[in-house]
This record gives sequence, C-alpha cells and structure tokens, in this order.
Amino acid sequence: MAGARKKLSVIGAGNVGATCAVWAAKRELADVVLLDIVDGLPQGKGLDLYEASPVEYFDAKITGTTDYADTADSDVVIITSGLARKPGMSRDDLLAVNAKIVAEVAGNVAGHCPQAVLIVVSNPLDAMVAVASEVSGFAHNRVLGQAGVLDSARFRAFVAEAIGCSVKDVSALLLGGHGDDMVPLPRYASAGGVPITQLLSAETIDAIVERTRKGGGEIVGLLKTGSAYYAPAAAAVQMAEAVLRDQKRILPSAVFCDAEYGVGGYFVGVPAILGAAGCERVIEVELTAEERSAFDRSVQHVRELVAKLASIR
Ligand code: NAI
Ligand code: 2OP
Repeated sequence: MAGARKKLSVIGAGNVGATCAVWAAKRELADVVLLDIVDGLPQGKGLDLYEASPVEYFDAKITGTTDYADTADSDVVIITSGLARKPGMSRDDLLAVNAKIVAEVAGNVAGHCPQAVLIVVSNPLDAMVAVASEVSGFAHNRVLGQAGVLDSARFRAFVAEAIGCSVKDVSALLLGGHGDDMVPLPRYASAGGVPITQLLSAETIDAIVERTRKGGGEIVGLLKTGSAYYAPAAAAVQMAEAVLRDQKRILPSAVFCDAEYGVGGYFVGVPAILGAAGCERVIEVELTAEERSAFDRSVQHVRELVAKLASIR
C-alpha cells in the first residue's frame, strides 16, 4: 500500500547521521531521507546504503538530498548536523558554531515537517535541544535529545564486562546533562534483576562510573579526528523506534522538565516514556541527598550553557 511506511529524516549525513540511516534501514523502521549541506554526500551514502538492501534484506527507501522539500511530512527527524569535537575540546566548545547550525536546521525542519518528533544529537546536547525547541516552536513533548541512552549503554557495557555476563541482562539509569558531570545511578542498575551493588565492589563501580562520565572523551582520544558514532547512532535510532512504533519505552532522554525534579524549564536527561507523541511522561525517581546534589550540579551546568546561548544568538 503506497505511503503506508513511516518517514524518518536524518539531518547531517556525517558519521552519526549516516550510521543512523544504516541502523534504521536495517530495522525497517521507515523510509529514510538523509540530508546534508554538502552536495553529493547524502546522495552517495543514500544510494550506497540502498544498494546494500538486497544483501542485508531490508525494505526501506533511502533518499539522499540537500533539499528540505524531500523531508516533507517526516514522522521523526534526527538532527546530527554540526561539528564534532577533536582531542582537547569539550562538548561545550562547540556551542557557538553548532547553535547556528541547529537553529538553521530546526527552522527548515519546522517548515517542512510540522508534525514531526525531533531527536537532537548535535552537541553540546542539552543546549542544542533548547535551540531546536525554541526555533521550531514545537510543543515540548515533541522535542527530545539523545544522550542518556548512549551514556547508559556505555555504563551497561562496562558493567557486563566487569561481571562477565551478557550485556542483555544489564539495565541502568543515568540522569543529568550530557557532560562529564552526568549522574550514573549505580543504585538503580541491575544484572538479571540483581542490584549491581551486590555483584561488584564499590571500587569497581566507582571506576565504571568515572569511565562512563568520560566515555565520549575516551573515544575522541582514540579516534583523534572526531567523536563516537556507532553507539550514538544506535541510541538515537532506539529513541526513533520508540516513537515510530509507539513503543512506550522508558529511555533516559533529554526532555523538557519544569516542575519535574524541580528543574524549572530546561531540557535535561531523565527517564521518560517515549511513544508516538514523543515524551509522553517523565518518570521521577527517588534520589539520595548525594545523588540529588550531583543532579543539581549537572542541571546548573545546563542552565549556564543555555544562558550563554543568549549572548551568542
Ligand atoms: P560529522 O562531522 O561526521 O558530521 C556532521 C555533518 O553535519 C557533516 O556531514 C556536515 O556537512 C553536516 N552539516 C554541517 N552543517 C550543516 C547544516 N547547516 N545542515 C545540514 N548538515 C550540516 O560529525 P558526527 O560525528 O556525525 O557528529 C555530529 C554531531 O553529533 C556533533 O555535534 C557531535 O558532537 C554530536 N554527537 C553527539 C552525541 C550525543 O550523544 N548527543 C554523540 C556523538 C556525536
Ligand atoms: C559522545 O559522548 C561525542 O557526545 C559524544 O561520544
């Protein structure tokens, strides 16, 4: 039946964007439109990926373009456009340049895809979600940021390795902004239903928390020319799948919090139910005084970044 498939657009056909297209197509989530400002790049990667479909057995149309008209009426738009950090840079160093890019993209997306749910990936993440929200004018529930799925996936991978168990059995929760002050919550992590605090020593857990916080920098240090993309793209596509398939997944996501956690009107990472409407509910968990103050520090950092935006834009 013509037009029955969902439509996913990915803005930015670089490392993260192109990898999003791969994961999404392979899962037959939707027809995929890849858009970039570099003419030829999205078209070439789109055609190449489509030519993989008979081998990888997926049915999805992949279109590469520089024209927003081709993204029209997308159900979900993942925004990955912008610079990635290099060794020695923090995510915050990208604020000014990426704010301009994300603002331009969000304006175009809002014009062509007025019903879409946006998933922002560009860094510094929490501030870029705020830019996309403001410029698109979309209801807050339709603007999401990807960070927590990636950060908790890193945490889960390291925990599974330390326990010597399957990654499939490890679940974890992480709060706050997408920076080195993010707040992994070992108390809420489990393996096969068993709290990891019963399976690993405090020293091992502390080391995993520290490695998770610096997980993005670890990859930048190894790659030297850019930042991570396989796990970030897998994370963004998991969020897109939750929306496109109305799965009601509970995923740590950067969503708008006002009264929730007493945040006061900022996008920050918290557990949220994601479905067809985007963020359908923020889940508030109990925090110890120590966890609460770590979360408050991380949120304060997000507030400061957003305040800096006002002088840039
Ligand atoms: P990349 O450099 O490989 O790709 C970025 C693409 O954006 C390039 O192809 C570029 O031509 C395109 N672009 C630039 N300006 C544009 C515009 N105005 N319109 C459309 N496309 C435009 O970078 P990569 O590795 O894909 O990273 C993309 C962004 O995602 C970076 O800001 C990076 O820091 C961020 N990131 C965020 C993560 C997260 O967890 N939130 C994880 C990994 C990366
Ligand atoms: C990461 O955490 C660069 O934010 C990106 O890998």
